[in-house]
Amino acid sequence: MDREDLVCICKSVSYGQIEEAIHNGAQTYEDILEETEAGSVCGGCIERIDEILDRLVIK
Ligand code: FES
Repeated sequence: MDREDLVCICKSVSYGQIEEAIHNGAQTYEDILEETEAGSVCGGCIERIDEILDRLVIK
């Protein structure tokens, strides 16, 4: 995925913005929601956000 690719279409949140939220400490979908509002409309992107969290969050 490129940084410009949209993860949440409803709120125009890009992969880069999700990545940045994770770098700023977001560890859960709720953290991402709070920081970017991604997933707050149709919810169709939540699965994609979860996949990104799985890949990028150090557990
Ligand atoms: S695509 Fe993210 S809330 Fe609709």
